[in-house]
Amino acid sequence: MLDRDNDLTAWDRDHFFHPSTHMGAHARGDTPTRVMAGGEGVFITDRDGKRSLDAFAGLYCVNVGYGRTEIAEAISKQAHELAYYHAYVGHGTEASITLAQMIIERAPAHMSRVYFGLSGSDANETNIKLIWYYNNILGRPEKKKIISRWRGYHGSGVMTGSLTGLALFHAHFDLPRAPILHTEAPYYFRREDRNQTEEQFSAHCAAKLEEMILAEGPDTIAAFIGEPILGTGGIVPPPAGYWAAIQAVLTKYDILLVADEVVTGFGRLGTMFGSDHYGMTPDLITIAKGLTSAYAPLSGSIVSDRMWQVLVQGSDEFGPIGHGWTYSAHPICAAAGVANLKLIDELGLVDNARVTGAMFRAGLADALAGHKNVGEVRGDGLMAAVEFVEDKDDRRFFDPARKIGPAVSAALLDRGVIGRAMPQGDILGFAPPLCLTEAEAETVIAAAASAVKAVLG
Ligand SMILES: Cc1ncc(COP(=O)(O)O)c(C=O)c1O
Repeated sequence: MLDRDNDLTAWDRDHFFHPSTHMGAHARGDTPTRVMAGGEGVFITDRDGKRSLDAFAGLYCVNVGYGRTEIAEAISKQAHELAYYHAYVGHGTEASITLAQMIIERAPAHMSRVYFGLSGSDANETNIKLIWYYNNILGRPEKKKIISRWRGYHGSGVMTGSLTGLALFHAHFDLPRAPILHTEAPYYFRREDRNQTEEQFSAHCAAKLEEMILAEGPDTIAAFIGEPILGTGGIVPPPAGYWAAIQAVLTKYDILLVADEVVTGFGRLGTMFGSDHYGMTPDLITIAKGLTSAYAPLSGSIVSDRMWQVLVQGSDEFGPIGHGWTYSAHPICAAAGVANLKLIDELGLVDNARVTGAMFRAGLADALAGHKNVGEVRGDGLMAAVEFVEDKDDRRFFDPARKIGPAVSAALLDRGVIGRAMPQGDILGFAPPLCLTEAEAETVIAAAASAVKAVLG
């Protein structure tokens, strides 16, 4: 009889090149292989039968929770009827066309069309090309630079990894590449001038942006990209007045705004889109994760009416757009998307993200209040982060070599809850499925308080 457990572990170490993993440690067996096997609601179970409450929804993507038969059945039905046809030269399927309609119905009112991809990274790659194409059509070949933010996360391709503003994703890959620039992160807790109010800090971020635009030349700056709330960079909500101040600068210099809503799209902040939540009026919106709750890989670039009109003018001048992926609008993924968006409505998950999210964040803040090493508990909707500091009074951070964030996240896992040690800083992140109940939120809070105590006293 084959000892599958042992063989799987050995096969994994010998043959599986994992993303975002310490390659040597994993291959040597110094870090564990966890073989995930099943899931139900907010719980995930591995092959050894260990069950964990997944308070990060995979990679903040399994928004409707695990084990939803409605989506599994939609995928199966589509696979039986028509597993694939391409979307080039005007082809579609009932699923892909219906999904485009459903997305536009839910998106901010000025959005017009959806271009489908497979991942958040490729959708942002599409966005970059659309921005360049747009300015070429308008006869502005110099207007091509894109400003992103330090700590922004927009993918890990060559251009999208350049948009990302995290050292780990640049170092030793020769990134970032031109023409991508980075401006200040809207990270109030880490502001240099601690006397600034949130509004003053927002004005400071807008002033730094304007300074960069003027130094580079406004005629060379095409677009600004940002997540409504910083995600992978630390789960950091924008300080008061931030988006209004940034958008005023962008409008002044005729610069497009891309809202990267890969995490926030479809309910995570308690509104359908983060753009609605923070009063953003983007020209492009990136979507992925929550579009299918990760039951199948699907992403999209939602294009505003203003931009669409120019793209149409481009086709009339230059012919069909030379951009496409084989799997754009893949019918199986689109069927998953249709079933997922229906489920989000039927279960009232956007409202639940708002209500349970508020309760969860307040409970977490209460449970950790006064802890000497908890510098800040922050978040919005169903996103939360705990940032650890060595000394609260002078906001001194831990030496990264001590790996406090990973230690707390490991202690949390020992208590049956999955959180995420965010990659830059000692920050424990939470983004549970949007179906989280109050009782499950209490479980996460209790486990987090216990894990913090175990690691930091
Ligand atoms: C805001 C944001 N944009 C883009 C991406 C990239 O998406 P993907 O990993 O599907 O390429 C991510 C992934 O976490 C993300 O959080």
